[in-house]
Amino acid sequence: MSKKQKAKQFQRPRGTHDILPHEALYWSAAEEILKNISSFYGFQKIETPHIEHTELFQHSVGGTSDIVEKQMYSFRTRGSDHLTLRPEGTAPVVRAYIENGMVAEPHPVKLWYFGSFFRHENPQRGRYREFHQWGMEVFGEDGPVIEAEIIQMMYVFFGELGLKDVYVELNSIGCSDCRPNIKSQILAYYRSRQKKICVDCRRRMKENYFRLFDCKEEKCAQIRRHAPQIIEHICERCKAHFTALLEFMDEIEVPYILNPYLVRGLDYYTRTVFEFFIGKPDSILTESEHKEENKKIDEPAGNQPNEEHKEEHAAPKTRLAIASGGRYDRLVEMLGGRPTPAAGGAVGMERVIDVMRQQKITPAESKPAKLFLVQLGDLAKRKSLKIIEQFRKEGISLKTMLSKDSIKSQFTAAGKSEAEYMLIFGQKEALDGEIIIREIVSGIQETVPLEKLIDAVRRHLK
Ligand code: HAM
Repeated sequence: MSKKQKAKQFQRPRGTHDILPHEALYWSAAEEILKNISSFYGFQKIETPHIEHTELFQHSVGGTSDIVEKQMYSFRTRGSDHLTLRPEGTAPVVRAYIENGMVAEPHPVKLWYFGSFFRHENPQRGRYREFHQWGMEVFGEDGPVIEAEIIQMMYVFFGELGLKDVYVELNSIGCSDCRPNIKSQILAYYRSRQKKICVDCRRRMKENYFRLFDCKEEKCAQIRRHAPQIIEHICERCKAHFTALLEFMDEIEVPYILNPYLVRGLDYYTRTVFEFFIGKPDSILTESEHKEENKKIDEPAGNQPNEEHKEEHAAPKTRLAIASGGRYDRLVEMLGGRPTPAAGGAVGMERVIDVMRQQKITPAESKPAKLFLVQLGDLAKRKSLKIIEQFRKEGISLKTMLSKDSIKSQFTAAGKSEAEYMLIFGQKEALDGEIIIREIVSGIQETVPLEKLIDAVRRHLK
């Protein structure tokens, strides 16, 4: 390369993001909380590969779903396998549950996971091509207590992070017994209005009638307003299940509303479906309130937009769920296992962290170090590493600037930090096996032998 030629600079692929150090604070705070909640509620951690056989998702998420039709990163390997970067976590966990014979374990089997997922979406604020979910799946329990427990866990998580105005929307989309009835009611309504709906919805009438309720086109939303409500047409057993769930909801005091048109973009759900949002339910917002809500979504901190990534910072056109899930009683059987009732849900981490920023919630930083080690001279620098390790082992935080040799710049940094004491370790102290502990504000200091350092520091920090 000639001197004048500048090396090409690379950018992250569209729809992905870096988690920079100042953002990592949010992530670690959230991860800490979700780990505690998962284990408290008796969930065990599971990790599945980032790649799976493409067919797994076709058989579970559904061949006519947006995810399978448009959003999967699928490829053929050299050995001619058809593989896909996982677009969601439920199907892989069900696959692992069956493949690893977890059916033989005491039930319910409760599993949680945290990791990245991949969908080739149109990137915009809160909608990424690589994103992270905290997910949980429960196998072998058919009562609504499981949906209530999952909803409670998510709500507790949002609460511990400090999120405000969280509520959940609920619906029941019935089971295989009531689906024929639901289908005929919905299609009868739409058949007489075919000319008034969009082309996509006409296709949805043939392929995936539930998705008619998901259309974002204004004219389709108008038509949906008077469409048959799924819940009116579910069977008696599904009704009893849903009624019992609502009784649990009243007990756990999670704000909820019934949304009779809530359906999900994944085909495996039966009975309960739910989605968490922030703010006021869409159904009770006036048009101008809706615009106001959208305006509140300001620029995210962190990755700076450039031309290529501009649209990723554009406010989303519709409000986005921060978490969602439901029951999927047929999926284990559909993927080759024994009939096993199951339910689960997943939290969208990027969206949650975005809400933390909008609501000006700052994660609690780990406590700032009260000690600053100042070293001077080669011998002192060499011996410093051992001292630092002693402090780490004792669980006492200590700040250092080993890359700086000048005592002045280290004193300045110590003064600017939140440290209360400096540990001054110069050439003489290193030779004598001693160190100076100096209180920064008063300047009072004492010299202690290195082997008594930890005890002396503890005495000062008391
Ligand atoms: P999902 O609704 O597709 O469900 O995704 C769950 C959550 O992940 C969403 O509520 C949203 O917060 C977040 N999310 C989804 N897509 C994106 C994206 N492109 N960018 C950022 N965040 C996103 C599932 O994935 C199911 N597997 C959930 C489940 C678990 N159901 C039962 N068990």
